[in-house]
Amino acid sequence: MAIIIKSNEEIKLMQIAGDVVARTHELIEKYAKPGVTTKELDTIAADYIRSRGAIASFLGYEGAFGAGKYPGSVCLSINEEVIHGIPSLRKLKDGDILSVDIGAYINGYHGDAARTLCIGNVSEEDRKLVEVTKQSFFEGIKMAKEGNHLYEISAAIEAYVVSHGFSIVRDYVGHGVGKNLHEAPEIPNYRVPRRGPKLQRGMVLAIEPMVNIGTWEVEVLDDLWTVVTCDGKKSAHYENTIAITDGEPEILTMVH
Ligand code: MF3
Ligand code: CO
Repeated sequence: MAIIIKSNEEIKLMQIAGDVVARTHELIEKYAKPGVTTKELDTIAADYIRSRGAIASFLGYEGAFGAGKYPGSVCLSINEEVIHGIPSLRKLKDGDILSVDIGAYINGYHGDAARTLCIGNVSEEDRKLVEVTKQSFFEGIKMAKEGNHLYEISAAIEAYVVSHGFSIVRDYVGHGVGKNLHEAPEIPNYRVPRRGPKLQRGMVLAIEPMVNIGTWEVEVLDDLWTVVTCDGKKSAHYENTIAITDGEPEILTMVH
């Protein structure tokens, strides 16, 4: 599948989707405290996204393995849960880490971003996991320049993560984003022995490292959605939607 190049007008529309996602993240961060349930956070996100005239991208998304439609508005994954955690009556507790993944659709385009939040007092190791995961995204996008090749981003992410003693999830990858939530290309967060497509201005990419403390291996729970680490050790996620320009990449899912 070819990578769809967006015009400047389309990128302006994607900035709006990105702003909805970024501000939803800010709101969730305020409410994500010990005692709150992930369902309550999902409702807060859903209400805000709707108030902006947008639609939650993930609600009703058709899953793999016959999982059916995703039942939440956002994904909320605690501790050893890597991604696709379903909002529930489970309460956050002191020392948890919570991965929050949010997508919003407005004016015909999606924005997609994830953060991992520290709930109360988090161990030194877990705090480092969260920090390294975030920074690996920024190391990756240093390569996100017109004329470079896509897998230079992938290699930079992996090099940074591995240098800090953590592992990279291999079963899930980043992706192009636009009129569809998932477009070409797939964007691994690990080195592959090829260069990949050449980056061009107007490409819009969701770069999303998922980083584990222990093994990189993951499995899907019986709910057919929640992805967990095989060793039960913690995992973090960080994602932004970016646009390739003729200079620095533009991050669409951060508040400017
Ligand atoms: N940010 C995730 C992704 O890019 C979210 C998909 S969750 C789903 O791929 F529920 F929509 F599947
Ligand atoms: Co994504």
